[in-house]
Amino acid sequence: MLVSPSLLSADFLHIGDAVRLLNAHADLIHLDLMDGVLVPNLSFGFSVSDAVCSAAAIPTDAHLMTVHPWRWFAHLQRKGVRYISFHLEAAGGDAAQHLAALRGMGVKAGLAIDPDVPVHKLYPYIGMADFFVIMSVYAGFGGQKFIPESIGRIAALKSEILRRGDSALIEVDGGVSVSNAQALREAGAGILVAGSAVFGAPDPAAVIRSLKRPAVR
Ligand code: DX5
Ligand code: ZN
Repeated sequence: MLVSPSLLSADFLHIGDAVRLLNAHADLIHLDLMDGVLVPNLSFGFSVSDAVCSAAAIPTDAHLMTVHPWRWFAHLQRKGVRYISFHLEAAGGDAAQHLAALRGMGVKAGLAIDPDVPVHKLYPYIGMADFFVIMSVYAGFGGQKFIPESIGRIAALKSEILRRGDSALIEVDGGVSVSNAQALREAGAGILVAGSAVFGAPDPAAVIRSLKRPAVR
């Protein structure tokens, strides 16, 4: 299980400390980029993500919650971002082209959907994506409550990926915590994103360790 803590919930007055913590304990660093159009919030832009990339010793994982996501691919790739996901809702009919563009740049290509998009809408892209992002909250804010129906969506996508003999990973983003990590693993998740569960904890490194190896129920 890969753990990709989201810096959205870190203390932005001490972002360097957060990056050093993740370098030592996490698998990936999740960067949430929002434009206030696709989602009703702004997060941070390239001045922050570039600084994080320059200090990252582990791969960075950019989650584009923007319209026209392709505009930002080349910049992120140049700064060394290794995983880039964008939303099907933002890409419409161009999703296949965007996934191919990312792969062509040598980046892991990810396709995300919000909870109100039927999971079967992802099936045509199996074989074109390196990972799929199942949002388990509506994209836009950290600290929301996990939507339990996400478990069934992950399981359905996982079985379709396996049925087609593909190896794409499923990343789960939103409301992920130590209490649902085992169920997410069993459903087929391969990457867990967690913001508030990690940075809101007194011992973030311990939470990352538990997310990596959830206790057997
Ligand atoms: C939400 C972001 C998430 C967010 C997760 O739109 O995509 O990555 O930071 O935060 P938590 O883990 O607190 O739900
Ligand atoms: Zn995210």
